[in-house]
Amino acid sequence: MRPSAERSSQLRWRQVLLSFLLSLFRGALPDQIRYSVPEELAKNSVVGNLAKDLGLSVRDLPARKLRVSAEKEYFTVNPESGDLLVSDRIDREQICGMKPLCILDFDTVAENPLNIFRVAVTVQDINDNIPLFKQRKIDLKIGESTKPGRTFPLDPALDLDAGSNSLQRYHLSDNEYFDLAEKQAPDGRKYPELILKHSLDREEQNFHQLVLTAVDGGDPPQSGTTQIQIQVIDANDNPPVFSQDVYRVSLQEGVPRGFSVLRVTATDQDEGVNAEVTYSFHNVDEQVEQFFTLDKRTGEITTKNDFDFEIASSYTLGIEAKDPGELAAHCSIQVEILDENDCAPEVIVTSVFTPLPEDSPPGTVIALIKTRDRDSGENGDVYCRVLGKTEFLLKSYSKDYYKLVTDRALDREEIPEYNVTILATDRGKPPLSSSTTITLHITDVNDNAELQFYLVVALALISVLFLLAVILAVALRLRSSSSPASWSCFQPGLSSKPGPGVLPNYSEGTLPYSYNLCVASQSAKTEFNFLNVTPEVTPPQDLLCEDACWVPSTNHGDGDGPLASDTILKVSFNLINLFAL
Ligand SMILES: *[C@@H]1O[C@H](CO)[C@@H](O)[C@H](O)[C@H]1NC(C)=O
Repeated sequence: MRPSAERSSQLRWRQVLLSFLLSLFRGALPDQIRYSVPEELAKNSVVGNLAKDLGLSVRDLPARKLRVSAEKEYFTVNPESGDLLVSDRIDREQICGMKPLCILDFDTVAENPLNIFRVAVTVQDINDNIPLFKQRKIDLKIGESTKPGRTFPLDPALDLDAGSNSLQRYHLSDNEYFDLAEKQAPDGRKYPELILKHSLDREEQNFHQLVLTAVDGGDPPQSGTTQIQIQVIDANDNPPVFSQDVYRVSLQEGVPRGFSVLRVTATDQDEGVNAEVTYSFHNVDEQVEQFFTLDKRTGEITTKNDFDFEIASSYTLGIEAKDPGELAAHCSIQVEILDENDCAPEVIVTSVFTPLPEDSPPGTVIALIKTRDRDSGENGDVYCRVLGKTEFLLKSYSKDYYKLVTDRALDREEIPEYNVTILATDRGKPPLSSSTTITLHITDVNDNAELQFYLVVALALISVLFLLAVILAVALRLRSSSSPASWSCFQPGLSSKPGPGVLPNYSEGTLPYSYNLCVASQSAKTEFNFLNVTPEVTPPQDLLCEDACWVPSTNHGDGDGPLASDTILKVSFNLINLFAL
């Protein structure tokens, strides 16, 4: 309903023409009548009494036919009262748009005589428009790494009202992160601008919702709102985090290869690619990598070798978790290997005393025994015993050491050899055991006495044989000597009978030689004394046949002559005994 440009120019042309004509008929024209009305008045609302304002009496009105000129756009004149009435909707915004002053000019005509009066109605704005945002919702995406102070221009709201009824200010809902500023565009329009006040943290709050309100200056003020929805875009600002700093796991020694030990998890609070964590061993020695595999995607750790508690009873695994931004976290895993009773005890005979004399008293130590078990705890706790019912006992000596002792007297004649079996058993579940056998020989105590005896006999025999040989040699010498007296010394029958009737064969021998024999018989003597005896001084009979034959010297002879002969006699008797045996 806004008048077109053509129409308004037509109006203006007519006004000029009418003014010209009127000026010809009537000298002076009355001033333009001015009214002011608010927009949006109801139909037939009275703008003012035009008749009265034009100086026309009510009585004359029917004759004068006062009316609004042809257009009759917004107003009519009541023919009876002469009131100027609103005949159509007057929307200031429609008629004048953003013009600050909105005036409707029109003419009124009266006949008899014909008069044209100019009327100007100022349309006052009422606050009949609320500020409006183009969109009911504004979506923003802001990276969490965005620095505070960044601005985000927003579309302005529109309020068609003019003056104080127009848009006056913007208002942002209370929030921690954003401020609002009002900026002016080159065309003079105001637009709001969002300012980031504090850094955003997607991990803390990934979505912010604000309400932007535009308020006009009406009384009461009107307002319009729009939602601002802010999605916080992730930045890789978080490292992965392990659920535990240290994990502890116990593994049975006998777990098969490929056994799943544990799965470590590191979470990254970032999202998407930024949260993709990969796992790797970190600062581990080669040994660990020989025994464990780590899945770099899942963090699962599996075994890849057989464990031997006796070689290593624990492992420390360092694990690193990394995200694509090289942000990393570390944890360590303590793997404890639990001992299984996989080692049998060992029995070691450290020393054994064999053969054992049969007269050894009970309690004699026969052997020292040591036990060893590579398992630990109960699995490595070993106890020993002697198998079977035997004459032997095991006595604990110190840790892992035992003494094998005799329990009672042994009799070689009964059992000359023992096989002593010692069984070592550990306390594992199930227990393992092993045994060792010691062969023990028993020696006869009498054997030793016999041996000594034979030795003595052999010695005596040799002595006697030697003596006999010497005697034989002397006898042969004597036989060849001239003196029969000398010979008679060897004849028990002759010795007591001195006389000349001696065998002439024996007279060949000399006296000093026969004397030598007597001395030589004292074999034990080292010193020999030869007397200077002459046949004239001492008759040979005396020398040889007297009992003093064995003690021939009064000057030099010692008194042990009879002792030596005793020994020889004893030996001879022993020899006889021996043969008798
Ligand atoms: C002892 O063991 C050995 C060898 O095993 C065997 O020859 C011997 O006969 C055994 N002795 C006894 C008394 O069992």
